[in-house]
Formats: sequence, structure tokens, C-alpha cells
Amino acid sequence: MAKLAINGGKPVRAPGGKLATWPVSDPVDAALVARITKSNRWSFDGKYEWEFAEKFTKYQTAKYGLCCANGTVGIQLALEALGIGAYDEVIVPGITWQATASACLDVNAVAVLTDVEPETWCLDLDQVQANITPRTKAVVVVHLYGSTCDIDALVRLCKQHNLYLIEDCAHQHGTFWKGKGVGSFGDVSSWSFQESKVLPSGEGGFNMCKTKDLFEKLYALRNCGRPYPACPPVFGMKKPSAMETALHSGNYRLTEWQAALLLGGLRRMDRQVKLRDKNAIYLNGLLAETPGVSPMGRRPQITQQSYFNFAFKIDPKELGVDNRAFCAALNAELSTGDAFEPPYEPLNKCGLYQPLTKARYNLSKQYVKAIDPKRFRLPVCEDAHFQSGVCVHHVMLMNTKKEMDQIAEAVRKLVDHKDELKRVKGGAGRRYRPLAI
Ligand SMILES: Cc1ncc(COP(=O)(O)O)c(C=O)c1O
Repeated sequence: MAKLAINGGKPVRAPGGKLATWPVSDPVDAALVARITKSNRWSFDGKYEWEFAEKFTKYQTAKYGLCCANGTVGIQLALEALGIGAYDEVIVPGITWQATASACLDVNAVAVLTDVEPETWCLDLDQVQANITPRTKAVVVVHLYGSTCDIDALVRLCKQHNLYLIEDCAHQHGTFWKGKGVGSFGDVSSWSFQESKVLPSGEGGFNMCKTKDLFEKLYALRNCGRPYPACPPVFGMKKPSAMETALHSGNYRLTEWQAALLLGGLRRMDRQVKLRDKNAIYLNGLLAETPGVSPMGRRPQITQQSYFNFAFKIDPKELGVDNRAFCAALNAELSTGDAFEPPYEPLNKCGLYQPLTKARYNLSKQYVKAIDPKRFRLPVCEDAHFQSGVCVHHVMLMNTKKEMDQIAEAVRKLVDHKDELKRVKGGAGRRYRPLAI
């Protein structure tokens, strides 16, 4: 008789029970939003926007920070503020949301897709080193899901090769490395406040930076190129800026309603990050004892780890299934629909990263060849997506210890019934079919 729920057996967690949902809000958020609706400041540069910008920047221990339209634009503005443009090479990880690489193409730079460490799925610094050429101008590091790269070593490497460092922190609100916030290590960092993120405002983004000069450039770039004196005095900068001339740019601003939601969310965020981190440490401890399964690596320098997704790896050889089938069987045990899924597609085989379909990038034969995703070899990224990686959204970590125990029990059950598991096919995982070129 079948034991596994996917084959009709009794699930570890019965359907219908309540699990945490995301995003969340409370009456204070509603009151803040209502206040804006009644006010005459709906757009950018409002009181709430700057209050939030100062508080969030301070929380992440960075120097300067400002809101922008979303996390994709945040990376683009970071590149533009650093003067990166046509034909410059920018090293990016091969497994990330496609925006990390697309933003590089949107400034006509070349995104050099680079393989990652198997333990964390963050940039492998040996591979970064191997991909540095005389054209390399910057590295965009992504601290992916619930992992953080070796920041100290990466900062050293960038200094040694005279490269800018941009931190894509879309997954990392609330992560601290030796007590210092991620996003404060790079020249510029970029953040996303999209609905699924740890600090959401529906859509929205943010940049942090180290210098006043970069802050002024970012301010102008997000605001149709208007020079910084248009900005209210913030971060203790009382003096008018030296920057008088405008820059060429567009509208990448955030509204005051979004800022109100961010201020509201920031009150809860650290508590939520701590809860997820506590549950993740507990669950990782249980998974570490399960044969055929390994938790993601956590560097000892991390003093608080934030999670956009909780991830772990299976050994497909030992278990006789790939991650897609494993996720299908795990979702059936936990009655979680398609919540557990493989991680992002590797960018050399990603349906949503198809730069050759866009006329805008048809700059020259040389450029088209350089940005062709198929030219990059990314074995670790491919293994993560096609074979070993299992992910679930951070909201799963906002449940109780009981649910963490159930996840571990379900994983253990699948491992204990390998022979039945081997017959499970297919399963979860979003795949986007590329447009015909
Ligand atoms: C790693 C990473 N970078 C950048 C982005 C882009 O952020 P946004 O959706 O706010 O444009 C995302 C969004 O999911 C992301 O996951």
C-alpha cells in the first residue's frame, strides 16, 4: 500500500490547516496610508519617504540611502551613478532573479554570468577572479535567498582589481555580517520592496551608498536628472550641493503611500527577521541529521541572517529523484500546493532572460556575442535548479516550531521511502518558455 501522500498515502500535515500568509499589515499602516490620501503630498520627497529612508539606512548601518521605483531600477541607477555604460563588463551571479543581469544590459554593459558556490549559491570568488578582464568595471553580488557571500573576501578582491562593488540586497533586509548591515559594504547597494519581499510596499526599491557624491548622483538619476539641491536636507547634509547641473535621466521615484507602508513595515521587520532566523536555524539542525539532504551553508561571520526563501539541497543520486519530483512529493506531504519549488533558473537557460530577443541590445556583432547567455558555463547554477535545490518562500518560516517539525518529518518520510519516492515524476517549478528569436 502507498505510504507517500503523493501516491494516496496519509500526509504528514492534513490539508486545510492555517499557515502564515504574506504580506501583512496592521491598523497603524492603514492609518498612515489614510493620512496620505487626505494630504496634498502623494508623490516623492514627502515627509514619510525621508523618515523611512533615514531609518532604514541607519538600521542597515549604511551612510546614505534613498528610495526608487523598484529593485530592478535600483541596480540600473547604481550602475549609472558609478559611470558604468556601453561595453563595460559587470560580473553577476548565474543564479538570481533575471533583473540583476538585465539591469546591466539596460545600461548597455555586458553581464558576465558567473558560477556560484554549491554551499550558498552566492558568487564563487575563484570564478569571479577568473572572469575579470581589462573591461571589467564592477561586480554585482547577490546575497541569495538566505545566504550571504564572503563579503570581506569580495571587498578585498574588488579593491585589489579596482572594481566597483554593487550589493543586490533584494533578499537581505535585516542581514548583519559581524554586526554590520549588508548593503553597507558595497559602493552602492540596491533593495526591492516588491510584495513578496521581507519589507514590502507592493512595488518599490532603494539604494544605499557610501559617499555624498554618489547620493547626489542617485538622487538626480531617480528624479528625471534634477540636481540634488531640489532634495530636502537629509542625513545631516545642510549645505546645498556642489552639483548644479542636471543629469540625463528618467522618472524612477516612489510614492508617499509606498513610503507609509514601508515605515509601517519597518516597525515589525526586525522581529520578523529574528523569528525566521530562529526557525531556519532550528529546521536546518533537523535537516542536517537527514541522510540525502543538506542545509545551505551559513558563514560564522553572520550575526543575523534574513531569508527571502528558505532553501536546502537534496542528493538526487542517493534519493533517486530530482528536485522537481522531490518538491511535488514534499508539497503533497505538507498540503502546501506548490510552495516548495526549485530555485531560480540558471541565467544561461532562463526563459525570462532572453536579451537577444530585444532590438535595443542589437548594438553591434561584438555586443550581441558578448551578451549571449548561452556562452556561459554555469554547472553549479544548473545543478541547483535542475537537480538539487529546494526552496520555499520566507513566509513558511513565520509559522511555529510545530510546522518546522512537520517540514523535517515530511522530508525524513520521503527519504525513508526512497523506493516509493523514485517512482514520483515531474512536479513543481516555474518555467517560462522563451520567445522565439
Ligand atoms: C535578487 C533580485 N534582484 C532584483 C530584483 C528586482 O526587484 P524588483 O522586483 O523590485 O524590480 C529581485 C526581485 O525579485 C530579486 O530577487
